[in-house]
Amino acid sequence: MNTTAELEATISDMVQTGKGILAADESAPTIAKRFAAIDVESTGERRRSYRSLLFTTPGLNEFISAVILFEETLTQQSGDGTLLPEVLARQGIVPGIKVDKGLKPLANAPGDKITQGLDGLAERLQTYKEQGARFAKWREVYPISEHNPTALGLEANAEMLARYAAICQTEGFVPIVEPEVLIDGNHTIKRSAEVIEAVLHAVFHALLRHKVVLECIVLKPSMVTPGKDLPPRASPEQVAEATLKVFRRAVPAAVPSINFLSGGQTPEEATANLNAMNAMFPDAPWELSFSYGRALQEPALKAWQGKTENAAATQQALFQRASLNGAARTGEYTPAMETETFI
Ligand code: 13P
Repeated sequence: MNTTAELEATISDMVQTGKGILAADESAPTIAKRFAAIDVESTGERRRSYRSLLFTTPGLNEFISAVILFEETLTQQSGDGTLLPEVLARQGIVPGIKVDKGLKPLANAPGDKITQGLDGLAERLQTYKEQGARFAKWREVYPISEHNPTALGLEANAEMLARYAAICQTEGFVPIVEPEVLIDGNHTIKRSAEVIEAVLHAVFHALLRHKVVLECIVLKPSMVTPGKDLPPRASPEQVAEATLKVFRRAVPAAVPSINFLSGGQTPEEATANLNAMNAMFPDAPWELSFSYGRALQEPALKAWQGKTENAAATQQALFQRASLNGAARTGEYTPAMETETFI
């Protein structure tokens, strides 16, 4: 298959009606934090058994089209010795890989960050492809404060995302482009809208400069919400309206799918907000979907508690959240569904 055919096949497998992406690509320090919250120590074997449990959830492929993996997961196996990327591929779920190497402060832009990991990326992608990965993810982070993001921060982060995306497409990987505007702080929804609009304009200018084929990317942005230290939370309708206003201005219709991150929203909030977008804007030019980490995994982690006897409850919790987000993809979710029994 040539690179264009490869990219087109991957994007059509990733973007499917009623489905979204599971982010299971927590780095070693981040998964250790998630495990610590349930009093479980993070070891290679526990990470393997937890993630293997998630990926073997019966019926997962009804609502999940792709999973983002962390590097170590590519070489780990399920209980029957099948490599975890293969466990996913056999269910028609596309395995992908987080390729960035985390954040550093951006020099001369106090408060802003920049993501590491471009050196040797093309070579790493060639190895990841042999291990079964077909798409990649790279996250840039933008804190909101009175002074952030700076003009330099907007420019430098956009440039990184575009360089990463161009390398991915050259290697036949669909890039998930993730400019995460943090929910931390006490900013208003209006300020969040201003920042996200500026971020998206800079990112799409940079993608254009680097000749990235927009039809073969997935955008993974933050929703427009008030800062989490400014209660009360906005209603799903307010979030949907504010988010779509910004995205209509800044995201070209050529982009096939916008898969939001959950970014610290509760699982219920993330589902309700996505649902409101699809209910209010069924004719949006792009798919409005999810690529949630915490909002899909939190209930599963709570059910798991690091114990093998909780395997069925863990899978049931993941299946429930995946199916509720599946309903949100078509605007058919209602909060009453939270108490229904699944499986
Ligand atoms: P959250 O949904 O927990 O924000 O994670 C998504 C993700 O992949 C962040 O990079």
